[in-house]
Amino acid sequence: MSVSSSLIVSRLRAAGCVFAEDEARLLMCTARTPDELEAMVGRRAAGLPLEQVLGWAEFCGLRITVTPGVFVPRRRTEFLVRQAAALARPGDVIVDLCCGAGAIAAGLAAAVDQAEVHAADIDPAAVCCARRNLPGPRGHVYLGDLYEPLPAGLRGRVGVLVANVPYVPTDEMGFLPPEARAHEPRAALDGGTDGLDMLRRVAAGATGWLAPGGHLLIETSERQAPSAQAAFAASGLTARVASSDDLDATVVIGRFRLSV
Ligand SMILES: C[S@@+](CC[C@H](N)C(=O)[O-])C[C@H]1O[C@@H](n2cnc3c(N)ncnc32)[C@H](O)[C@@H]1O
Repeated sequence: MSVSSSLIVSRLRAAGCVFAEDEARLLMCTARTPDELEAMVGRRAAGLPLEQVLGWAEFCGLRITVTPGVFVPRRRTEFLVRQAAALARPGDVIVDLCCGAGAIAAGLAAAVDQAEVHAADIDPAAVCCARRNLPGPRGHVYLGDLYEPLPAGLRGRVGVLVANVPYVPTDEMGFLPPEARAHEPRAALDGGTDGLDMLRRVAAGATGWLAPGGHLLIETSERQAPSAQAAFAASGLTARVASSDDLDATVVIGRFRLSV
């Protein structure tokens, strides 16, 4: 290790970065000039999430562009992508609501042959990232509140609807790591009193958009899963829960009945 890299490791370690060596390596590979490296180390030492400093997050083997102030895709959400990809059929219409930087949408666009992928978020900065991560012609990104910006022509045609909505109960926001509290928008995290406000809204609207036999998948916590499952059932979906111990991930999966 060179003197400069060991200095960077020391600065990162002093700032509380647990994986200082790995982070130093990533920062040194990404910076194009010594000045840029110095600025990046400074931002990371000041507490910005590593991914926002690098400008990208690794997700499902892809490099997802993430700019400062945008929610950083979590590795646990790869489980949602895997579950959705297993249910999707080639050529399906896929919708990712609350898409953030568009990581889930991009993962599904890569995993599902010929998929037509639509994604939407209410945060303009997130939508900018999603447009870079989900290029056309098969990717479409919209700005607005949940279903509101989607083209009406998608109604009744969606094979797979996915959402990683904000799901932290308001009272538990204070327990989040400082990185998240200080550098990710509150609207990306706070899910209301029991954390399920947004999940209920998405579930309530789903049958207006799903094709018969289509699926809705939403990430939750293990504790929230029974209430989330009940919200799916109340919205006319047959629901089950899938979980991964490895990724500490829980997903509620609903199916819109086939017409009789
Ligand atoms: C937990 S983050 C998930 C982002 C992305 N799906 C991911 O997994 O990386 C939740 C996202 O929901 C978005 N959001 C919050 N309220 C919304 C609303 N009413 N309509 C659309 N998006 C919303 C936030 O801007 C944020 O990007």
